[in-house]
This record gives sequence, C-alpha cells and structure tokens, in this order.
Amino acid sequence: MLLRAEGREKRPVRRAFLRWAGSKKKLIPRLEQFWNQNYSRYVEPFAGSACLFFAVAPTKAVLGDNNRELINVYRVLRKDPERMHRRLIGIPRERDSYYRWRAKDPKALDAETRALRFVYLNHNCFNGIYRTNVDGNFNVPFGSKLATYLSRQEFVGCSDALSSVKLVAGDFEDTLANVTKGDFVYLDPPYAVTSRRVFREYGKKPFATDDVERLSAELQRIHKLGAHFVVSYADCKEARVLAANWNSQKFLVQRHIAGFSDHRTRSFEWIIYNMPTPH
Ligand SMILES: C[S@@+](CC[C@H](N)C(=O)[O-])C[C@H]1O[C@@H](n2cnc3c(N)ncnc32)[C@H](O)[C@@H]1O
Repeated sequence: MLLRAEGREKRPVRRAFLRWAGSKKKLIPRLEQFWNQNYSRYVEPFAGSACLFFAVAPTKAVLGDNNRELINVYRVLRKDPERMHRRLIGIPRERDSYYRWRAKDPKALDAETRALRFVYLNHNCFNGIYRTNVDGNFNVPFGSKLATYLSRQEFVGCSDALSSVKLVAGDFEDTLANVTKGDFVYLDPPYAVTSRRVFREYGKKPFATDDVERLSAELQRIHKLGAHFVVSYADCKEARVLAANWNSQKFLVQRHIAGFSDHRTRSFEWIIYNMPTPH
C-alpha cells in the first residue's frame, strides 16, 4: 500500500495524467508565475488534462469540463488510483485489443470500466486526440507512437491532488458559479469557431463566438467579485478583443500542426489577466 498525502501538503505531479489536444504543458513555466498558494482556491472551468492544476497542486480547487467522460475519469482515479493502474497495465497495447476496447459501448459499462476505457484509448490512440462521431462514439484510430503510462506512484499522486477537489461535469458557467472573492481562476477555452459554421455542424456544439461573449461577461463578473483570473488563448480576433480590456501578454509558441510531430509551426498565444504582471 502506498502512503497517501492526506493531511500533508500536496506534492505537484509534474507529468499530466492524460494526453489532451490543446494541452498547455509547454506554457506551464509562464502560467505558474501567476499562481501562489495564498489564493483561497484554484478554479479551472475548461480543465482538459488540467496540466497547470497538477503542476501547482492547490490545496482547494474546483475543476470542470463539459466532457462528462473526462470528469468521470477524474472521479474514478481519485477513488482508487492503484486499481485503475493495475487494470490499465493488464490490457495489451496492440491493435486488436485497442479496437476491441474502442468497440465497447460506454453506455453498457459501469463508471469504473468507462474510465479505464477512456484512459486506455487516450494513451493508445493516434496522437491522444479525443474525437467522437455524430452518434458520440469515440472514433480515433490506433496510434503508431504509444504514450508512456504514468507509474503507479504517479497515479496515486494524481489521486491525492484531486482529493479535495470539487468536480463539475458541465458548461464553464456552472463551474464559474462557484467562484468567490480571493479565488484564482485559470481559463483555457477552446479556439472559437464562427457562429455561422456552428449551425452547419452536427453533433456536440463546438465553442463558438457567442460562447466567447459569455466568457467575456464571466471575466467581468469574476473581477467584480474580487477574484483573480488568467486566460490563455491562441491569437484570434476574439482573443484580441478580450486582451484590449485587461492586462495581457502576447508571445510566440512552437506548435505541432494537427498533432504531427514533424510538422511544426510558430504562432502567437495570449495570456490575459486581471492581476499585476508577475516579475
Ligand atoms: C483547450 S482545452 C483545455 C486544455 C487544458 N488547459 C490542458 O492543459 O489540458 C479546452 C477544454 O474545454 C472543454 N470545453 C469545451 N467547451 C466547453 C464549455 N462550453 N464548457 C466547459 N468546458 C468546455 C473541452 O472539453 C476541453 O477539454
């Protein structure tokens, strides 16, 4: 049995638990400068792989995402990380096994097995992409480069980091409804597509320009509450509009195009915030 961190200060988990499109792993050194343990709570409404959360290991936090299966993974991991790790390493990492697990209907599985399937597919699929078809079924092919699993100790570390976290499966406004004075809020929304395109899409509604308007109103509300926020956003018209109202930094980042490691490009990214610029 591994020692759990209950009652002790949480140690940061340096590696993200999941692979996630749009992960801000590379921005952690920059983003960490905005955080300090004196904030009352850490709140992250677009959690994804929550790499900043795991890096700073706050004592109290609220994490949310509208991907319900992702939030289920965090719940199951928190409850019994060693069991999840044991089951995961017991599944063969080869093509046939991958397609057998992908073919399982998540609705027919219990919450624990659904989470296991999610983590297994996430580490063995092409580039760690999360994509579903119009019926909501995960449809990413088997990957050529398989991601290394975190160790049993790291699973336990992630579970410890989640021990006193409130998890919200829902829209970012549901998570932000928890914000009170003195909180630190990190927001990493998806890149917005124009509303015109949204109406032509099928399946789950992607993040759109009207969502950016809701986000902008939430930033005003957080500020009025006396809480602190940091937004990271790829350079686009909407980001520039947000940046004009608050403190901001624009900088160049190296990106992989569509996750292909040999196709790199450099693009601008914004950090937008309502506290003083850290030194
Ligand atoms: C850019 S990713 C966040 C990545 C994260 N910062 C990381 O490092 O892994 C954006 C996340 O927002 C979630 N999302 C999209 N629309 C949302 C909404 N309306 N409310 C809450 N979460 C949403 C997506 O499921 C995705 O996990």
